[in-house]
Amino acid sequence: MSKRAIYLDHSATTPTDARVLDAMLPYFNESYGNPSSSHGFGRKADRAVEDAREMIASVFNCKPSEVIFTSGGSESDNLAVRGAAWDARRRGKGLHIVTTPLEHDAVGKTAKQLADVAGFELTVLPVDHVGLVDVEDFAAACGESTTVASIMYANNEVGTTQPIAQLAALAKERGILFHTDAVQAAGQLMLDVKTLGVDMMSVSAHKFYGPKGVGALYVREGIDLVPSQSGGSHENGRRAGTLNTPGIVGLAYALKLAYDELEQHTQHYQVMRDRLIGSVLTRVPDARLSGHPERRLPTHASFIFNDINSDMLLMHLDMKGIAASSGSACKTGNPEPSNVLLALGYSREDALSSLRLTVGRSTTANDIDYAVEIIAESVEKIQQLGLGVR
Ligand SMILES: Cc1ncc(COP(=O)(O)O)c(C=O)c1O
Repeated sequence: MSKRAIYLDHSATTPTDARVLDAMLPYFNESYGNPSSSHGFGRKADRAVEDAREMIASVFNCKPSEVIFTSGGSESDNLAVRGAAWDARRRGKGLHIVTTPLEHDAVGKTAKQLADVAGFELTVLPVDHVGLVDVEDFAAACGESTTVASIMYANNEVGTTQPIAQLAALAKERGILFHTDAVQAAGQLMLDVKTLGVDMMSVSAHKFYGPKGVGALYVREGIDLVPSQSGGSHENGRRAGTLNTPGIVGLAYALKLAYDELEQHTQHYQVMRDRLIGSVLTRVPDARLSGHPERRLPTHASFIFNDINSDMLLMHLDMKGIAASSGSACKTGNPEPSNVLLALGYSREDALSSLRLTVGRSTTANDIDYAVEIIAESVEKIQQLGLGVR
């Protein structure tokens, strides 16, 4: 029997949808002009970029001019947080930033860098045991000098989703710019920026069946960001660099497909995720679900086991053809426990015994049943052999 290959790491990345790839291909070697060139080749590429911008704007419910193309989620987050912070400094406004311990490093380290090297004051809000930010805590942290707040829509490690509309409304009342990292939410949760009330929002194509290395940042009209990347006057002077035409076409088409087909995919994700959560909790006696039991991404299941070294578990699963992760893709192989799990109140040992499984469009009930059997077997073996972290 050939080795099975079961991909349960869709929060790390998704395969590019074949329809998206087809839409991108002509922009590599047929319509390859530089969208900034004024000749016919350039105009054709520019048309594709502007059509893509309109498609994205229709999902975000914003104006096309409010969408900036970037190289992915990390760059969008950097541009939002650093760009807004530098603009506050340029205008002589307050230099206080509010964020959470849940943020991806693209936000967390950017905010910390602003505090370390540029004199900003940083407040990192507390979160509860399931990873929820308390709106009251946010209100209490926002003061006269607060200018930027960045709180993620959905967490990549535990899947918990935040009450973004409530948090953004509070920020608005106090004149604070509100950014949300919607990289994990995009393709699964509503992205209407008017309903959410956000000022800035980051997305990345490879999380919703688009290509890697391309993303977008929504920036509400009237907000002036200092560019993170300076150079040419692309994107109205807000982000320098030749536009990635095939990537942008892929990003827009992947986003459109994800929202045209949202109901069908979400239903499938939830059925697969709930089967996974239910079976792991039944088959592995000491398994605990991490993150919020209901307010979580439709694709996301994450667990803490007793006395399991995550890296060892992942190795066992990989040998049986199961691709999983211990938390964020950027942290796999890192011997340090996840800051997110520590912030949720887990001990160091628990935080080193985590497993994240994220389902996708092609996940089947059969895949889940096989994966759960292997997980149960591997956890038992590691525990019996005393190869855990304690
Ligand atoms: C919540 C979150 N933000 C930002 C990023 C970075 O996105 P990219 O890989 O496109 O740079 C990721 C990637 O895993 C993520 O999960």
